[in-house]
Formats: sequence, C-alpha cells, structure tokens
Amino acid sequence: NLYCLIMAGGSGTRFWPRSRTVKPKQYLDMFGEGSLLESTIKRFSTFTETDNIYIVSNKNQATELEKQTPELPRENLIYEPVGKNTLPCIGLAALFAEKENPEGIMVVSPSDHLVNDHALFRDTVLAASKIASEKDGIVTIGIRPTFPATGYGYVKTAEDITGSETIRQFKVDRFVEKPQLKTAKTYLEDGGYFWNSGLFVFKVSVFLEAVREFAPALYSDLRKIQAVIGKPSYPQTLDEIYRAVESISVDYGIMEHARNIYMVEGNFDWNDLGSWQSVYQEEEKDENGNASNGESIFLDAKNSYVFTDEGLVALVGLDDVIVVRDGNATLVCKKENAQDVKKIVDQLKAEN
Ligand code: GDD
Ligand code: MG
Repeated sequence: NLYCLIMAGGSGTRFWPRSRTVKPKQYLDMFGEGSLLESTIKRFSTFTETDNIYIVSNKNQATELEKQTPELPRENLIYEPVGKNTLPCIGLAALFAEKENPEGIMVVSPSDHLVNDHALFRDTVLAASKIASEKDGIVTIGIRPTFPATGYGYVKTAEDITGSETIRQFKVDRFVEKPQLKTAKTYLEDGGYFWNSGLFVFKVSVFLEAVREFAPALYSDLRKIQAVIGKPSYPQTLDEIYRAVESISVDYGIMEHARNIYMVEGNFDWNDLGSWQSVYQEEEKDENGNASNGESIFLDAKNSYVFTDEGLVALVGLDDVIVVRDGNATLVCKKENAQDVKKIVDQLKAEN
C-alpha cells in the first residue's frame, strides 16, 4: 500500500503579511480554489485512501490544520513541538508508517505547490513508487529546469532506465541542494540536470536505513520516540527529544549523501509558489500586465500585482510592484525583490 506524507510545517515567510506564524502560506487560499494544502490533499486522494494520508505540522498550526482536513482521521495529523526542517519531519512520520508496514511505500510531498494536471501527477507518482519498490531506492520527481534557480535542489541524471515505460526515468548520479548561481548556470548548460521537485518516494525501511547511515544521532532519537508511541509518555518524550534534535533538511541530510537515488521526470505543470512573484505569474493579467485579487485601480501602472483582504488599493505611475494589504499590515515592494520579503519577518522576530 501507498502512504502519503504531506509536510505542512513550514513558515512561508516570503508571503508576509498574508502568511503569519499560525497561518503560513500552505493554509492560504491564493487563487480562490481552496488552500494549497487542501489542493494537495485533493491531488493525492484521487489515488491514495484518505486513511493513508498523513500530515506533519507544527503544534502552533493545529487549529488551522484541523479545520482544513475534515476528511482525514485525527490520528493521521502528527504534530512537531518545534519545526526542525524536513529530515526530522519525515523521520517522525516514517515511524508511524513503519508501525503499519515497514515495506510500505511512502510518498513525501510539500504542501505548498501548485499542480493542475492531476492525472499526469498520479501516473508520475505511481511510476516512482514502482521504482522505489523494485530497486529499494529513494526516488525523486525531477522537473526540467528553465532558469538557473538557486532556491532548488538539482539532480544529475545518469543511466536512462525508462525501458518500455512512458514516463522517463533515470538512475541519479548526484544530488546538489541549492547551488550558487554560477554552479546552477553550468548545470543548465550541461543539460543532464533536473530540479528536485521536493517529492520523494521510497520504502519506509529504505528511508530509515538511510537515516541510520547518514544521520545516526537522529536515528537513535527516532528509535527513542518510537518506543513511546501510543504511550502516555509520548508527548513529553517527543517534546524533550525534538527540541534537542538538529534542524536539517532531507536534501542536505540524506539526498546529498545517498547513493541509491533514482529520478522520474515530472512533466506536469509545476509551480513551487516561492514568493509573491510566482503568485503574480499564475494570475490572469489585464492588457497592461496587472493582476489583482480584488478591488484595485491601476492608473498608468504596468506589470504589477495587488492583493487586498478588504478595501480598495490604487496604484498610480508604478511599474513592476507588488502590494499586499492584509489585516494590520501592508507590503509594498519591487517585483524583483519579492524574495527579500522573508527578511522583514526575520527583522520582526529579532525585534520581539
Ligand atoms: N512539518 C514540517 N516541519 N514541515 C516543514 C518543515 C518543518 O520543520 N520545514 C519545512 N516544511 C515543509 C514546508 O511547509 C514545505 O511544504 C516543505 O516542507 C518543503 O520545505 P521548504 O522550506 O519549502 O523547502 P525548499 O523550498 O527550501 O526546498 C525544497 O523544495 C524545493 C522544491 O520546491 C528542497 O527539497 C529542494 O531541493 C526543492 O528543489
Ligand atoms: Mg518550498
């Protein structure tokens, strides 16, 4: 059987001021079609039973998470006392899946991506799970890169193992997380590199074995947590152990070291909604390239984006700007600086 793990504990700081600690971007309805998390669940429920969909999130997002997941069993919502990035998050979920079936296949997915072609998405994930089960490997879904992004992981493909399958698949030579721009440029020229979509597929036992090999301290902590699952001491033990665990992503902690990696090409439309800039790209624009979610006036303004939770926003004589008005805060920034919005949150945190 197929388990799906949706990682929903990120803080989404580049979406300030809409994204706040208790309601980060995965819980936001960006395009009026339900939140990114709700869409992710919908995408998986076409081919996984909802009983097998798990979500790992942060304790301080519990209210929002419970509200948005009425179709999932409550015991499938796993809470972290603090965020420690994606490696501990996947490790914790793997313990729960292992209890059900250590040889089961787990699909790990981000909660904040946009994919519209559900059928091709399903076929790609199923192709990846077939390789994961046949090769005992960790399989990533790769996206053909279109520019030298520095915010993604890169996968260098080796032997083509597609055979008679329709979806292309490869053995992976190596995995490099978030390279420098200069390096990313050489990867694009090389042609053999793909972006890591952030979707991983593996047998639960294979993943835990990789944790044992490449993150032994975490492995022994996970085993201590496992010993108390279902017992009254679970919350306190989890809390104590988790606070002391090293914060590290699965990309740096496992993927850059593992050798049994495979890649399936994802040809579905894919947008990692990384910043307001990428929301703007998805929106329908008027003849001047402006987009808005609500009431707005663009006067002698071009290629700009407005979000307003209530009230009117007017732009005069401005090009390439993003304006976001939400609750008691307003953001105004140049489109090219959209990535820097997270620095505002850093500063706010430092001041508190
Ligand atoms: N539960 C939990 N706890 N979830 C988390 C945590 C955590 O501490 N940290 C992040 N997440 C969730 C986020 O909500 C998101 O859905 C997912 O895990 C990935 O985390 P990001 O922080 O968005 O990662 P990234 O975008 O920098 O990089 C990853 O994704 C890229 C593609 O979007 C990497 O896997 C890259 O290699 C990849 O290219
Ligand atoms: Mg991301």
